[in-house]
Amino acid sequence: MLSARGLQWAQVGYAHGAQDRYHPLRNPRGVWLMHSDLARFINTLNFDESSCSYGEGFTGTLRIREAMANHMNKFFKPASPIDAEEITFAAGVTDLNEACALVTCNPDAKEAIMLGRPVYGSFSRDLCMRTGVELEYVSVGNTDQFTPACVAAYEAGYEEAKARGRNIRALMICNPHNPLGNCYTRETLIGLLQLCARKGIHLISDEIYALSVYKRTDRPSESFTSVRSIDFSGIIDPKWVHVLYGMSKDFGACGLRLGCVVSQNRDFNNAMRSICRFSSPSQFSMEIAASLLENQDFLRSFLEKSQARLLHNRLVAESLLSQAGISFHDKGNAGFFIWLDLSPFLPTEETSGDGWKAQKLLSERLGKAGVSMSTGETYRAPEPGMFRVIFSVDEDTLREGIRRISRVVSGASVE
Ligand SMILES: Cc1ncc(COP(=O)(O)O)c(C=O)c1O
Repeated sequence: MLSARGLQWAQVGYAHGAQDRYHPLRNPRGVWLMHSDLARFINTLNFDESSCSYGEGFTGTLRIREAMANHMNKFFKPASPIDAEEITFAAGVTDLNEACALVTCNPDAKEAIMLGRPVYGSFSRDLCMRTGVELEYVSVGNTDQFTPACVAAYEAGYEEAKARGRNIRALMICNPHNPLGNCYTRETLIGLLQLCARKGIHLISDEIYALSVYKRTDRPSESFTSVRSIDFSGIIDPKWVHVLYGMSKDFGACGLRLGCVVSQNRDFNNAMRSICRFSSPSQFSMEIAASLLENQDFLRSFLEKSQARLLHNRLVAESLLSQAGISFHDKGNAGFFIWLDLSPFLPTEETSGDGWKAQKLLSERLGKAGVSMSTGETYRAPEPGMFRVIFSVDEDTLREGIRRISRVVSGASVE
């Protein structure tokens, strides 16, 4: 009854969201530390009738594009100012990631996007599900992927894929990184740009956590460097570089469904605008986001508060995890998550030594205890045992969640 692709998509498993209402312990999903501040701000706005129409079209009003250009010029410190004409909006970065895959790679031609691993798990569907594009994951080591050492690993990955007949058309990075919470150094970004220039491939940089970065008080931390802050002269033709950003993370406003791509490539931008017509953001969302971005006083205090809360919760989480004897990637200073190493606790004796099956079993046990965490398998971790815990919930929930993780991994019952 369905087409071949329809049948394939029917198996993917995306469905409506959970209908059970928010509960601080049983169902904290999606409620972020800053949501009440954001909701208060939105409730002060008045919309006029212009938001009820198609407005200026489908991929970003001039007002939102100018507000975003000003915002990025202030916080991303671009080497040359970002102009509103370089920006295209759509209903979220998820959609724009897919659109990047569509416009940079040909389907059915063994064309691929290269990514380091571990990396944000949804890339595996977002970039591929409807595009026919393949992904090439390269093992770049947990921390090495933020130092220039990663360039050689990517180069080797590129050559190895080429030898198999895979034609890599783009390198995708996530900076600041999900799930590791690191920011790329300027040197590393330059190395990656040089690699992309040598190979003639695009660099797509998902910078959705750009301002969810906090200075650690206990050790040095890397600050955020946008790839756009690098002067491309003598390194790469700017036409190969595209940056993604959006409202979902730094502003806690994933409900607005609003993201943008910034590029100096006119053909790329024209192609994006054509296909993003099918995923255009709501005029109401753009009005809200523009009001937020234009209100410098609100924005300053919102971001300060958000970064302070994220730092506080991260340090609380790390201290509780250490007390529980759970190791984790301790270099992160961005994002809402910590990358846990639960490999010593995998019940491999119950899975005939199979680490991936043991990870699934542990994940089920955590789920039964009311703790939901993404697994390393979803995030393409090279080895089993990694889990991603989100700490941007209220402190009681965080403490209770880590207490439960600790009980489950030590084999105790959770009461
Ligand atoms: C790296 C990264 N990119 C994109 C997204 C999705 O963004 P949006 O809500 O704008 O679709 C996420 C959400 O978790 C993310 O972590």
